[in-house]
Amino acid sequence: MKYLVTGAAGFIGSAVSERLCAQGHEVIGIDNLNDYYDVSLKHARLDRAEHDKFTFVELDLADRDGMAALFADQQFDRVIHLAAQAGVRYSIDNPMAYADSNLVGHLAILEGCRHNKVKHLVYASSSSVYGLNQKMPFNTSDSVDHPISLYAATKKSNELMAHTYSHLYDVPTTGLRFFTVYGPWGRPDMALFKFTKAIVDGETIDVYNNGDMRRDFTYIDDIVEGVMRIQDVIPQKNPDWTVEAGSPATSSAPYKVYNIGHGSPVKLMDYIEALEDALGIEAKKNFMPMQPGDVYATYADTEDLFKTINYQPAVKVKEGVKAFVDWYRAFYKC
Ligand SMILES: NC(=O)c1ccc[n+]([C@@H]2O[C@H](COP(=O)([O-])OP(=O)(O)OC[C@H]3O[C@@H](n4cnc5c(N)ncnc54)[C@H](O)[C@@H]3O)[C@@H](O)[C@H]2O)c1
Repeated sequence: MKYLVTGAAGFIGSAVSERLCAQGHEVIGIDNLNDYYDVSLKHARLDRAEHDKFTFVELDLADRDGMAALFADQQFDRVIHLAAQAGVRYSIDNPMAYADSNLVGHLAILEGCRHNKVKHLVYASSSSVYGLNQKMPFNTSDSVDHPISLYAATKKSNELMAHTYSHLYDVPTTGLRFFTVYGPWGRPDMALFKFTKAIVDGETIDVYNNGDMRRDFTYIDDIVEGVMRIQDVIPQKNPDWTVEAGSPATSSAPYKVYNIGHGSPVKLMDYIEALEDALGIEAKKNFMPMQPGDVYATYADTEDLFKTINYQPAVKVKEGVKAFVDWYRAFYKC
């Protein structure tokens, strides 16, 4: 099949592209290669995706004409939409970047799918949509009407926009709420990468909320496996569905939303300890207050994904952190 993967130079997009190509699919990967973080890492990920089945196109999602032309020329069977302006903290100072990439950009994807009869759109949402929710684990039947960062609000908007297109134009859409993804080729703006760099460089790490946080850390290979399996499950219309009897993650339209996480939250201090063990260095820690936009804990209820695709994440934090450190040391020769 022919796939469009957006954010193909990104952490998750490059890993998904690589897997699709390895399975013999044709992949057109797009990315605008923006400098939100080190662009050379994005180029290195693209080199890794190099394959005779993979074609890279440098394109901005917000380029309406460029996006419409790409869809019309290529006639994709399926779209895996992972490009976005990510990051909670950056959205405090740079809100407009989120409007361009996550709202205008997402709409360009929906329009492309609508006009070119794409058979399934799988797109990235985020655990951050759970915002002020305190009931754990987070379930897709819970209300997600109280985001606490603009990033989270754009991700929730992506789900609403997808629902509209599923309803009006029968575009089958599946939204995946990713829970803190980590592993080799990871993002320099995320804790594991920042901590590793600081510790290796002999610098102090900033530990927010005095270390009292929990995250449902999910290893990249487990995420890729989930994406691969779910893209084969195309949501169908269900005329018997009603708002009153259904859950917010389902619809009468061909629309579905899932959590995709490990399903077992880990204390931040235990995560740091796993990193110290893997590096063989004790971190110098600077304990800080909670940062605006951050949530205290995340914990995915993945029962729905288990029932649908037998999703059982395999990689535990100690193992996953070690794999990241091995990659980091080899990649940065340190
Ligand atoms: N990594 C996580 O823990 C996590 C958690 C929740 C949700 N997500 C979501 O998963 C998706 C992938 O995340 P990631 O960790 O791989 O992030 P990433 O930043 O590594 O990858 C995103 C890629 O999209 C590209 N991009 C951004 N704006 C673009 C635009 N306007 N046009 C074209 N390309 C653009 C970037 O250059 C980048 O290479 C994102 O939608 C993110 O919001 C990630």
